Amino acid sequence: MSDNLASQFLLREDVTFLNHGSFGACPRPVFETYQAFQLELEREPVDFLGRRLTDTMREPRHVLAAEVGSGPEDLVGVINATTGLNIVAHSLPLQAGDEILTTDHEYSALEKTWAQVCRRTGAEVKVVKVPLPLEEESQFVDTILAGMTERTRVLFLSHITSPTALLFPLEAVIAEARRRNIWTVIDGAHTPGHIDLDLDALGADFYAGNCHKWMMAPKGSAFLHARPEVQGLLTPLVISHGWTEQSKQPGAKGAFGNSPFIDEIEVQGTRDPAAWLTIPSALAFRRENDWRSVARRCSELAEETLERVVERTGLAPLGSSAFRAPQMVAIPIPPCDAPAIHKTLFEKHRIEIPVFKWQDRHIARLSVQGYNVRGQMDSLIAALDELVGLSDQAASAATA
Ligand SMILES: Cc1ncc(COP(=O)(O)O)c(C=O)c1O
Repeated sequence: MSDNLASQFLLREDVTFLNHGSFGACPRPVFETYQAFQLELEREPVDFLGRRLTDTMREPRHVLAAEVGSGPEDLVGVINATTGLNIVAHSLPLQAGDEILTTDHEYSALEKTWAQVCRRTGAEVKVVKVPLPLEEESQFVDTILAGMTERTRVLFLSHITSPTALLFPLEAVIAEARRRNIWTVIDGAHTPGHIDLDLDALGADFYAGNCHKWMMAPKGSAFLHARPEVQGLLTPLVISHGWTEQSKQPGAKGAFGNSPFIDEIEVQGTRDPAAWLTIPSALAFRRENDWRSVARRCSELAEETLERVVERTGLAPLGSSAFRAPQMVAIPIPPCDAPAIHKTLFEKHRIEIPVFKWQDRHIARLSVQGYNVRGQMDSLIAALDELVGLSDQAASAATA
């Protein structure tokens, strides 16, 4: 990867930024487009928000839908994946005795969302433990299928997991859940711009994705996708001008001429739509910079860095390469005081990377994006070696 790509980003030069996974990073030209939209809005707010907004929102929706394999009427902008998934979780008609089936790899804010839904409805969350290391699709599929009962109403899964950076093979479990009339709700916070998506083919009832992570659009750009047959189940979290009394009737039109699904969720009171409007610019940036090749190089560097650490520690990866996210990898590190290591990595070494304890494992979650270079991986390995003694581990494993 060339320094040229790093210069296209706004990241501080004194920080080795290895945490694209948490909040993304927006390239300079894309950020300029974002600011241009904000300026245009401020120069004539009534024209921008009052007269033209519905039309202006349409192009990003069509462009994004084509990118992620969705019909343009089946996807709507939200400000983050959490919001999209909350709309679903709070809309589904659950009651006491119902089960929400999920795994032990889910994102904590969404675990809280379902916990709150359960408190309100009396439904229960059932967590299955995905076997590790994940090396065969059947390990995942069998675990999920074994968790399904006649009480299961919802299957909630990440596509790429947050703590373990695993890529779950979803197709078979979604198909089986649909066969059993279980609603499938997928957390795709990490997938847009990271892996190829064909949402219609995947067939989940509901799928939320972030454009502000790997697609590199500005913060506050995300989407909720819903199959046409289940869109009518949804109620927005905020009721605003897009809502109509008739919206649940067959063939109803939304308040602004789109489907009720789009109009009800898209209009949430006054807010800044600039991040959403910038999505076509983010996709253009990727095309102009041959991001497929960049992403391939990033993925190779992530893989190589994992292997270099594994060689030293002898600690096995959490899954084989087919089940690991391409540009984000959970690197197992020796037992340590994870919060202290995380703090020292940033304060002393100026390396931004999440380090945490997950279940009984200690993990450094490395993200590699186009602005990263191999020398930064060398710095990470050297710092980890200094702080947690990577090779000591191999030596003790060899003598054990
Ligand atoms: C798996 C997963 N789901 C959901 C989220 C939440 O994303 P956001 O805060 O953009 O809604 C994250 C954030 O990192 C995540 O990793």
